[in-house]
Amino acid sequence: MKKGILLVLSLVLAFALAACGKKEENSGSNAAPGASQSGAPSNTASGKLADIKKAGKIVLGTSAEYAPYEFHKMIDGKDQIVGFDIEIAKAIAADMGVELEIKDMQFDNLLTELKLGKIDFVLAGMTPDEDRRKSVDFSKNYYEAKQAVFVRAEDKDKFKTMADLEGKSIGVQMGSTQEKIAKGIKDAKVKSLGKTTELVLELKSKKVDALIVELPVAQGYVNKNPDLALTDVVPEYQDGGSAVAVNKGEADLLAEIQNSLDRLMAEKTIDKWVAEMTELADK
Ligand code: ARG
Repeated sequence: MKKGILLVLSLVLAFALAACGKKEENSGSNAAPGASQSGAPSNTASGKLADIKKAGKIVLGTSAEYAPYEFHKMIDGKDQIVGFDIEIAKAIAADMGVELEIKDMQFDNLLTELKLGKIDFVLAGMTPDEDRRKSVDFSKNYYEAKQAVFVRAEDKDKFKTMADLEGKSIGVQMGSTQEKIAKGIKDAKVKSLGKTTELVLELKSKKVDALIVELPVAQGYVNKNPDLALTDVVPEYQDGGSAVAVNKGEADLLAEIQNSLDRLMAEKTIDKWVAEMTELADK
């Protein structure tokens, strides 16, 4: 009799446990599709920062073709990646007490590489727009820039307002916020390329009529190329803020990065670097 009751009890218990397990499994898989949106960490929250400190190195992903943000420059006979984003990344690494490794890649690969864990953080003049926020976390903006439209110097007078871009062929960087701006222009033929340097060649060789990039970048190209000119056209989409991206849920890492940014901004160091790097790019 007793044995019978025990058996029944243990069966009930076993069922209850199984049901619990099921439930957990279900909620687990239900949560998965939304996980990236709700901010659930894919890697353990404290894991990344601890790993970085243990390795003694943090890996930056950038796209060094966007002066003065980040660009290649021959210094002392050596090809180096420089720019105000790079100075910021160096300061972040120094504050953490680790070395900085830089991985240079095409802009539209950055977030994929971040998700794959090939890089730890991104500084690439990247604007924290809504779509990107769904897959990665951003710091606060560390820099704000306007958008600009630039053209061949002889065409400058043809471009006065956004309406003048309608029906024109417009070059933009692949996967950039400028690509979204261009796609919103009526009848525009949008040409998306991987690199800004390639876009400038397209403009010079009359394959496109105009380029949209952030103002400091446009200014740099115009300064160096007398055959190019800035227009007075102001794209409606004015968000040109830059922020640091990290993988979702890496709260500790992001907090340390934000601390460094707060300090640099309070000390006006970023403004100083922007000026220095603009000068270096123009040389
Ligand atoms: N701010 C724009 C964006 O977030 C363009 C950034 C391009 N950066 C670069 N390193 N090429 O899409």
